[in-house]
Amino acid sequence: MDPQGSLGPSIVIPPSRTPAETASVYPSNMIYSIRAAQRLDSRGKPTVRVTVRTGKGKFVAIVPSGASKGDYEAIELRDGDPACYGGNGVTKAVYNVEHVIGPALIEQKFDVRSDLAKIDAFMRKLDGTKDKSNLGANAILGVSMACARAAAAARDEPLYEFLRQETGATPNGYVLPVPFFNVLNGGAHSGNSMAFQEFMIAPVGAQSITQAVQIGSEVYQELKSVIKKKFGSAATGIGDEGGFAPPIRHPTEALDLLVTAVKNAGYEGKVKFGIDPAASEFFRKDAYDIGFKSDQAEPLGRKELIDLYHRLLKDYPIVLLEDPFAQDDWDSWKEFNKTCPVELVGDDLLATNIERLALAKEHQACNSMLLKINQIGTISEAIAAAQKAYSYGWRVFVSHRSGETTDDFIADLAVGVGAGHLKSGSPCRGERVVKYNRLMDIEDQIISKRGGHVYAGEKLSA
Ligand code: PGA
Ligand code: ZN
Repeated sequence: MDPQGSLGPSIVIPPSRTPAETASVYPSNMIYSIRAAQRLDSRGKPTVRVTVRTGKGKFVAIVPSGASKGDYEAIELRDGDPACYGGNGVTKAVYNVEHVIGPALIEQKFDVRSDLAKIDAFMRKLDGTKDKSNLGANAILGVSMACARAAAAARDEPLYEFLRQETGATPNGYVLPVPFFNVLNGGAHSGNSMAFQEFMIAPVGAQSITQAVQIGSEVYQELKSVIKKKFGSAATGIGDEGGFAPPIRHPTEALDLLVTAVKNAGYEGKVKFGIDPAASEFFRKDAYDIGFKSDQAEPLGRKELIDLYHRLLKDYPIVLLEDPFAQDDWDSWKEFNKTCPVELVGDDLLATNIERLALAKEHQACNSMLLKINQIGTISEAIAAAQKAYSYGWRVFVSHRSGETTDDFIADLAVGVGAGHLKSGSPCRGERVVKYNRLMDIEDQIISKRGGHVYAGEKLSA
């Protein structure tokens, strides 16, 4: 009997193509398929994975997600169905990639080699809101990241080189960033009583990223021993970004642990510190409650908090302070910036958004921008924000999110925009170390093929 009998005699089933055969039909610079799926991030919460296909191959991106999110960030779309992942599902965002963004974008026949800004602008228009809340910043960012990878491949360049050209190649060649390892986790990222969210170690005295990673790892292991000795092995559990979360409360306790670990590891002078209090999280009316994670409130007025920062800066080798005040507490930012001797980074304050940057410039509120791609939701806008920060004479500090994935995009981004420093958590846990490992690969590649590279070191900039 005719095997196709039930389909009728006129229907011929074409032989199926392999993915490679399908790809070969399309030019290397043209998108022919955009797919998405719901997958998990490092906290076990759903996130969006996007796969873009061009004639050159398949390009995948996975989107990160924050816990201490700022009020001015682009909006990630969550399903809100309490019966599914506690309301955190992202199936609507996945649907938007597959059925709204994908078909519309493919129809435009963009040339991925040159059109990333146009692709991003097209998605913004399709979304139609200022904060990307309609289609979801998580949907839009996944497509933008995957398209950047497709663009780099179509130009036969590594991703960092493509991003460097999009930024406007830095004159000093390739700058490998100083890694800021977040080795003590507090705030919204751990269960201890420490209000300040992040205590970071920065091996500024290293000669290369490879050496910086070694120093970071050795100090981290030493810190584990110091914590074990002082608080017992149960205290060596870790927080969301892979740093330890011992039962401490005050910033001086955290900094003393770091001083001891650096000394024991033999790197005194080579390692400096950075702190991200993420102060929006504990701003209550007119005071900062640094006891907010315990049952003992400890509210500090603005002046008291500023004095505390000045004391810490005097007593410890700190080179960077991020979000020391809440995102709308302009008076404190302005006041502190007048006398702050170190890098003062705006995270929640700026939200990688050029309108917020302009406001902060007007207020003279800070001197550095934290660059988080999902705060703004497209790669070309993130690059524009970096360019704007540089035009103000500020530094740019590239950052992961506390809910991360094994996507290493931001390592290439840090080199591409010549940021000079990056934070990606502790030298522990796959989603954190994948970025540091990628930076070491980039360093190897640049040394063997390109030349003209430097490690940012004490300068923390290009
Ligand atoms: P988040 O934390 O990703 O939870 O926002 C990182 C940060 O505040 O820098
Ligand atoms: Zn921050």
